[in-house]
Amino acid sequence: MDVDTGIDDSLALLYLLASPEAEIIGIAATAGNVPAPAVAANNLAWLDVCRAPAIEVALGAEEPLAIPLRTTEDTHGPQGIGYAELPVSDRTLSDRTAARMWVELVREHPGEIVGLCTGPLTNLALALRLEPELPRLLRRLVIMGGAFHHPGNTTPTNEWNVHVDPEAAKEVFDAFSAAPAERRPIVCALDITETIEMRPKHLALLAERAGSAPVEMVSEGDGPEIRSATSNPIIRYLTDAVRFYFDFHKLYDQGYLAHMHDPFAAAVALDPGLAITRPATVDVELTGTLTRATTVADWAGMWGREPNADIVIGTDPDQFFDRLIGRVGDFARTVYPPQEGRANR
Ligand code: RIB
Ligand code: CA
Repeated sequence: MDVDTGIDDSLALLYLLASPEAEIIGIAATAGNVPAPAVAANNLAWLDVCRAPAIEVALGAEEPLAIPLRTTEDTHGPQGIGYAELPVSDRTLSDRTAARMWVELVREHPGEIVGLCTGPLTNLALALRLEPELPRLLRRLVIMGGAFHHPGNTTPTNEWNVHVDPEAAKEVFDAFSAAPAERRPIVCALDITETIEMRPKHLALLAERAGSAPVEMVSEGDGPEIRSATSNPIIRYLTDAVRFYFDFHKLYDQGYLAHMHDPFAAAVALDPGLAITRPATVDVELTGTLTRATTVADWAGMWGREPNADIVIGTDPDQFFDRLIGRVGDFARTVYPPQEGRANR
């Protein structure tokens, strides 16, 4: 996982921890929503809350490849996890950089690793500079990023992860230009991820599934000082995190909901069958005055270049939420059985 945790990145982590078929062999902390050290701390803290085994968390570059870092605490909260206040972990960070972890893991496990990127592509680009063979050493790559036939969420045409580091995004898509069809990155862009709308009812269903009490129905009237009191710590912190995202989407007239970009990409990484995809050649605008960091898809071979991406053009959001609630709810119940949960105030 290469993440910029982040509220929805947090859900992507929970989804994978909750999925028996997934083995997380490394978490790269990429600067984006918040600076890389905060991203790393958030992941270590979530691993503690989830009573997860030791998983390597490696610190990424401080800045994007070519421009100063821009973060977005207004979207994800001062720490990057909304209103949640996770206990600080005493787990230690990896002693290798995120880029080196990428390179060394794919060399150790050639053809076996599915890479999942839910933040800017800075560290993957740095890894590709170290190991140009990386696209052939990965089993598959799934990227949450970009916007095609859909408005941007950061400028009118660009999406946050690409906006933070457009040079890195271009280097990544260029590097996969020679990838065989079955190795093309699966791209989950805003076109599809903005159809994955989490609402308060989904948090209530998660609490019910986890046997957490009380089952709370958060609402837009809840003030920023409110904190969840539900018994299961995973559900409690998750509720506090996601409520901030609900407030943010409401503030920007998208409704009292939250687009679950990153856990959707995580679900596709485990089961590409969730997504209908279409091949295209993707490139990134770097010099446009109005359009810098815009992802452009050539669906029809107009550029005379081979496709370098499988773009997700269809899915069933309800099927995704059934999986998310089933897996994360059962996981939370297993980690904190209902009678124990109350003891974990
Ligand atoms: O544009 C949405 C993406 O940007 C998500 O990955 C979110 O976490 C932010 O990183
Ligand atoms: Ca993210």
